[in-house]
Amino acid sequence: MNPIQIPRGTQDLLPQVTPIWQFIEKQAQEICRLYNYQEIRTPIFESTDLFLRGVGDTTDIVQKEMYSFEDRGGRSLTLRPEGTASVVRSYVQEKMYGQPNQPTKLYYIGPMFRYERPQAGRYRQFFQFGVEAIGALNPAVDAEVISLAMSFYKNIGLTELKLVINSLGDKESRLRHREALINHFEPSIGEFCSDCQSRLHKNPLRILDCKQDHDHPLMKTAPSILEFLNEESKNYFEQVKSLLDQIGIQYVVDPTLVRGLDYYNHTTFEIMGASFGSISTLCGGGRYNGLVQELGGPESPGIGFALSIERAILALEAEGKALPGVQALDAFVVSMGEPTEEKALSILYRLRQAGFSVDKDYMDRKMKAQMKQADRFQSRFVLLLGEEELEKQVINVKNMETGEQEAVNWDDLITYLERQLRRNQ
Ligand code: HAM
Repeated sequence: MNPIQIPRGTQDLLPQVTPIWQFIEKQAQEICRLYNYQEIRTPIFESTDLFLRGVGDTTDIVQKEMYSFEDRGGRSLTLRPEGTASVVRSYVQEKMYGQPNQPTKLYYIGPMFRYERPQAGRYRQFFQFGVEAIGALNPAVDAEVISLAMSFYKNIGLTELKLVINSLGDKESRLRHREALINHFEPSIGEFCSDCQSRLHKNPLRILDCKQDHDHPLMKTAPSILEFLNEESKNYFEQVKSLLDQIGIQYVVDPTLVRGLDYYNHTTFEIMGASFGSISTLCGGGRYNGLVQELGGPESPGIGFALSIERAILALEAEGKALPGVQALDAFVVSMGEPTEEKALSILYRLRQAGFSVDKDYMDRKMKAQMKQADRFQSRFVLLLGEEELEKQVINVKNMETGEQEAVNWDDLITYLERQLRRNQ
């Protein structure tokens, strides 16, 4: 029978790479602890309506990339393509806006699903680490969220980072920009793809991030949002930039940065890194004042970002950074002959209870093969137990680095190993 293959655009994370993932997830948790963001876990699937309303029905994500299905009860559900809509849904449903500790600062790590054309850095299932700060309209929160993302990348070891920021302004500024975009594109809209044509009056901003018409000359001359910002929006953006200057975060302003989701206004940003294939965007985020209301809550402003763990790892590889590998074992018990088996097992369990990582052979291997197995696990010590040791109630402890070997009484084994391992650290 033909073996069944993994679905296109997904990956098995095998034991050789999971240590890297664990390292990155730990760094994400740690940076969120420092910035006082708490973890939230929402369902992997949600009502399809949530993303239609949250992400926007003229976006590529909603029009082309969602994994939607009907469940047996006839409800339309969708595997989440991103995390913000779910977090805001929960914020509204759980009435988090009523709690005194505003802004509500949350983070999440988990799989997202988009039906995209797979390539290096673009998958159909990918894992996002994201944060959302909901409830405060304060440029200091924008700067905090951006600095959290930048610090995270620095902490995992990335150095080639470029922060790009922009402002999409408030509702009024966006309306004026919208009119200008329609006037700009309308005379030649026939030269654009059918998606862009249908977006012209619904949501002309989306034309600017169309992948198909990316190189059309009118894209380059399109009116820039920055020329349409009203005083309030301009001021807000100036404050965000000045705070970034103060905390020493460098950035480039790019007025063409519009992002692919509909909920954004005011600050938007992306972080680029060393490129892998044709992709270099590692992280994207921005402000989404109005989304909480759109999803049925009271007016509460919000800002956040998301980044994929896959792209963070690809950027580390592109920079040639050493990545954490499988952790070495503290000890491997090599037992020789049936009578030693019971004692070997009890030593193994005692050591594990005392906090050592230890293993033994379960395949009836000869001694030489057991030593090889210990090597494969990069075991720092090998504990040899033969009939002679059994009789004398000792175990031979071999330091695999120095080759030194010493007989240690069973009762002294834990203290002996503790001392040796501490010395080796
Ligand atoms: P996004 O720009 O759609 O924003 O995605 C954010 C990040 O997720 C991207 O920069 C990229 O690292 C990663 N990503 C997206 N699609 C893929 C894919 N197919 N394969 C691998 N990685 C991918 C959002 O998702 C917003 N929810 C971010 C946000 C949070 N804005 C405010 N709060």
